Amino acid sequence: MTRKAGQPAPATGAATLDEYEDPSFSSAIIGWQKQHGRHVLPWQNTRDAYLIWLSEIMLQQTQVAAVLGYYARFLERFPTLRELACAPVDDVMAQWSGLGYYTRARNLHKCAQRVVAEYDGVFPSDPLLLAELPGIGRSTAAAISAFSSGTRAAIMDGNVKRVFARAFGVDAYPGEKKTEEMMWRRAEALLPEQGIEAYTQGLMDMGATLCTRSKPSCERCPLQARCVAYATNRTAELPVRKPKKTSPEKHATMLVIADRGQVLLEQRPDSGIWGGLLSLPELDGHVLAGDDRVAPAADTALMLAAGKFGEMESHERLSTITHVFTHYKLHIAPYRVTLARRLDIAAQGNHVWYDGSRIAEAPLPAPIKKLLLELLGDGKAAQARMF
Ligand code: ADE
Ligand code: SF4
Repeated sequence: MTRKAGQPAPATGAATLDEYEDPSFSSAIIGWQKQHGRHVLPWQNTRDAYLIWLSEIMLQQTQVAAVLGYYARFLERFPTLRELACAPVDDVMAQWSGLGYYTRARNLHKCAQRVVAEYDGVFPSDPLLLAELPGIGRSTAAAISAFSSGTRAAIMDGNVKRVFARAFGVDAYPGEKKTEEMMWRRAEALLPEQGIEAYTQGLMDMGATLCTRSKPSCERCPLQARCVAYATNRTAELPVRKPKKTSPEKHATMLVIADRGQVLLEQRPDSGIWGGLLSLPELDGHVLAGDDRVAPAADTALMLAAGKFGEMESHERLSTITHVFTHYKLHIAPYRVTLARRLDIAAQGNHVWYDGSRIAEAPLPAPIKKLLLELLGDGKAAQARMF
C-alpha cells in the first residue's frame, strides 16, 4: 500500500486488499490443518484434476460422508474424463441417482465433453478459465486449481462464509451482494504466499469440524484468540441470518353491535380469507387509525355503517387484535356500538343476529370468536353488561 502516513483510509466499502491482509491468519489455519485437519479423503494426495473436480462437484451440496460411496462407484464406472465424456448422459444420471441436485450431473457430463473438445481432455489450471465451464462457479474453480496445481485462488462457500462472519464479526447477512463482495476481498487478501493446498483444505475442515453451525468447538480453534464472535459471545448470532421478508400489514375496522343478548354477524363470501365463515361486519372503505387512537372521521363513519342496523347511541373503541396469517398481518380495530333502536334486518340476507349463548359453537374465525367470548365473559353479569 502506498498510502502516506497521516493520509486517511478510504471510505468504507473501498477497503483495498492490503487493508485486510494478515499473514498470521493463514499460518494459523495451515498449522492447524497439518496437525488436526483431514488428510486421507479419497480426493486428497493427488494432483489429478479429474479426481479433484469430481469430488468438488459432489461436495458442492452434499456432505463428505454421503459423497464417499458415490465417489468410489462413480470412478469405477468412469475411471477417466474421456470415458465420462463418451458415456450416454443416462448412465451418468444413473450413477448420480440418490445424490440429489441433478443439475450437477448434467453439468458434469457437459463439462467433461467441453474439456475433451476444448482442452484436449486436460483441465485448465487458470481458475478464470475453469469458472467458464458448466457447473464450476468461482469458489469451485478456486478449489480445483488450488488442489490440482497449487494456484493461489480464494474459495468462498457456505462454510467459509460462516468462519469469516464469526472470525471478523461480520454484522450483515453474507448472502447480500455488498457483504459477499467484502468477504471475497478478505478471502483474496488473506491467501497465503505458500501452502495454498493446506490453507484451502484447512478452511474447509474448520468449517466442517470446528466452526460448525451450532455449538462450534472454539476451545480447539486456531482462530480463537482473534475471533470476534468468540470474544463477544456471539457465535450463536453470527453469521447473520437471512432477513425475513416483512409481511405486509393490513387493517380492518370491525363492528361489535350487540343488542338484547345477541350480536350482529355477517356471512363472509365463499372465497377469500375466512371464506364461508361468519364474522363481524366490517367498515369497508373506512379503515380507521390502525393504532389505538380513534381517527377523526370515526364518528361519522361508524354512524353510517351502524345506520343499516339501527340508530347508534354510542361507540367504544376496543383494543386492537393482531392476527398473523402466513402472508400478512391483520390488525383488527373493533368498535363496540350500542344501538338506541334496532332495525329489522331480515331483508339483508348475509347478516344475522346471533345469540350470545351460541357463540362458542359458531362458525367464526378464531380471533373473532376469542374476542366475542371475552366480551361475553364467563358469568351472566358480564353477559348482561356487554350484550
Ligand atoms: N468440501 C468441498 N471440498 C472439500 C474437500 N476438498 N474436502 C472436504 N470437504 C470439502
Ligand atoms: Fe468459529 Fe469458534 Fe473458531 Fe470463532 S473461535 S472461528 S466461532 S470455531
